[in-house]
Amino acid sequence: MLEIQGNELILQEGSLITSKTDLRGYITYANFDFIQFSGYDEEELIGKNHNIIRHPIMPKIIFKVLWDTIQGGKEINAFVINRNKENYDYWVYANVTPSFNKDGSIIGYYSVRRKPNPKAIPVVKGVYAKLLQAENDAHSQGKNPMVASGELLNKTLQDINMNHQLFFITLQKNGSL
Ligand SMILES: Cc1cc2nc3c(=O)[nH]c(=O)nc-3n(C[C@H](O)[C@H](O)[C@H](O)COP(=O)(O)O)c2cc1C
Repeated sequence: MLEIQGNELILQEGSLITSKTDLRGYITYANFDFIQFSGYDEEELIGKNHNIIRHPIMPKIIFKVLWDTIQGGKEINAFVINRNKENYDYWVYANVTPSFNKDGSIIGYYSVRRKPNPKAIPVVKGVYAKLLQAENDAHSQGKNPMVASGELLNKTLQDINMNHQLFFITLQKNGSL
């Protein structure tokens, strides 16, 4: 049974939502919890772009940072809100890693998601809302949205003297910065 609060599904301590993708982010594997939370059948997920569960309040820049990091061969942790097939939302704390072959080439990506620290969610929501606003403002002014939100993200991180990895890890561990 999934815990529902209003429009949100709440992950439990034991929840573990995992998926694998190819190099372009098309889903090649989804585990039981992924299927449960996303509301899709396995057949509806395999071969689909991972943006099938993209939530409109997620700023583009977070996904750019995610892709830049994993394509660079590094792991990333991030808070992500997803929207499921029935329009329920769920926050996760994700760890996304590249998978390598023997030669050291990246052959796909793997994401493991756990319950996010609930205290961190309001902080993350505040930061994401500002990034999204910067993207929307830039868009309506005919400017590049991700340049605007990228600058804002850099400034936000500089102000607290953290990189994005430390920012997310600290929030998950402590619930605050
Ligand atoms: C392994 C892996 C897992 C991903 N998981 C999610 C996810 O749970 N939710 C999501 O919105 N995007 C996820 N993404 C990012 C998507 O590929 C995509 O960049 C994002 O949804 C933004 O889509 P858009 O560029 O079409 O707006 C994941 C990517 C990878 C490589």
